[in-house]
Amino acid sequence: MDNTGLEINNRVKLQYEAYPYPDYSLFIPLRTQEAYASNSIFSAQLLKERGRIAPAFQLKNPRVLVAGSGDILPFVLSFWEPRSHHIYAVDISAKNIRRARMRSIFRPQAFHWQVGNLEDQALPLPESPAHVDSYGVLHHLANPSQVLQRLHDQMMPGATMRVMVYNSEARSWIRHIQKAFALLGLSAFDRNDLDHGLKILKRLGELSPSLQQRMTPMRTSIFNHSARFVDTFFHAREARIGITHWLETFARIGFESLGLFDRYAELDDLKNPLLIFPTAKSLELRAKDRRFENNYEIYLTKKGNISENPRGHPSARFPNRFRLKMPPKAWFSYTETNSVSIPLRFKLWHNFLGTLEGKIQRSLDREAIAIKPEALQRLSRIGAIFPSNFEAKDLKDLLIRPIHQMMDQPTFPDPIDLKKDLELKHMIELIARSKGQSEEILNQVFRRLDAAQKP
Ligand SMILES: C[S@@+](CC[C@H](N)C(=O)[O-])C[C@H]1O[C@@H](n2cnc3c(N)ncnc32)[C@H](O)[C@@H]1O
Repeated sequence: MDNTGLEINNRVKLQYEAYPYPDYSLFIPLRTQEAYASNSIFSAQLLKERGRIAPAFQLKNPRVLVAGSGDILPFVLSFWEPRSHHIYAVDISAKNIRRARMRSIFRPQAFHWQVGNLEDQALPLPESPAHVDSYGVLHHLANPSQVLQRLHDQMMPGATMRVMVYNSEARSWIRHIQKAFALLGLSAFDRNDLDHGLKILKRLGELSPSLQQRMTPMRTSIFNHSARFVDTFFHAREARIGITHWLETFARIGFESLGLFDRYAELDDLKNPLLIFPTAKSLELRAKDRRFENNYEIYLTKKGNISENPRGHPSARFPNRFRLKMPPKAWFSYTETNSVSIPLRFKLWHNFLGTLEGKIQRSLDREAIAIKPEALQRLSRIGAIFPSNFEAKDLKDLLIRPIHQMMDQPTFPDPIDLKKDLELKHMIELIARSKGQSEEILNQVFRRLDAAQKP
């Protein structure tokens, strides 16, 4: 690792030592159902839908590596990973690992905790993981492709991986704000500076309809929380990598892209992206004109098979109380699905659990009559139901088909002249003066804030 790389890792480490992520209170009850798609058996099910058995379904004690675990994911995953699975959590931040460990103290799984830098070639990794999760981590590395290569080489043939990488195009406004804060000399490690940043953003939201539109969804989840606020607007490292480059890198290394999780229903004019991976071109076009603004949540598999137990083991056995829990809220938060009746919701939930458990169950063809076709399509796009849950070919085909012929491009309100607002100007001038910044820097700050308003 060269010095620039090390320096990047050190800055990232400092950030996550000061601000563990996502830093939910240790005592807050979590809806672990919502993590239904984050685990090794969900990824293995995606492979099974293609007629292949993943090592997570074949081995008695598969290893699951959480690469860049943060302080919550190992705990949440432990509700989904069968007890026989070993969970290896690696994170560069000792504080994240300490918190994740404390949270998981009463969970039954075998956990292995490690504070370490994924970019350090000497970092010991678990041997032959059957599944790797690296959610929101790769774009914070100095050399993501080298780390991906190492993870790939370490994984079992046929092993699965879930990654989330930023949608770089959709985040261009955030990068302009980050740059404006950096120009002003604001630091993530100074409370006053964070307050200044927050004040500027609030004023921008009041003034600029386009920024207001972008910031509204962040109000509760990010603005009220320093760790997530820093993660968004003060990150020590955010590599700017487009989707084509990511997909080419995965393929070059030897991964096959299995599915893309379309959380915000932005790809309805494409075939079901969770089952048929969209082309790089189709994603790039949609990111460019902002039809697709979510980050890329991608399921991969390492090419190849292991010969052991090719028919698979019975995989998971969820405790009975799992079936009494409400199904994931997310499933029924879409316009197409929110009218599904409560008994049907539970039926779908129990079907989902049975499917991941590898149980042979009655097909859902009969229930499908009571569910709107678009609702079935939506549920399939978010992995609540799978083609293998149906017998009729037309139902299986329905799950693959696009929902809409085309998706409209979002519109953004026109930018406004921010410099004309005396309150904002005065606020920024005062901060700049206290930081000893020049007039020229002030102009650059306003240029960045103007740019942040553009689509
Ligand atoms: C945005 S957080 C995501 C955490 C977790 N994956 C989640 O989804 O909640 C990024 C995580 O990657 C970790 N990280 C960043 N660079 C790393 C590195 N070089 N080695 C190991 N962990 C790293 C950070 O400490 C942080 O916990």
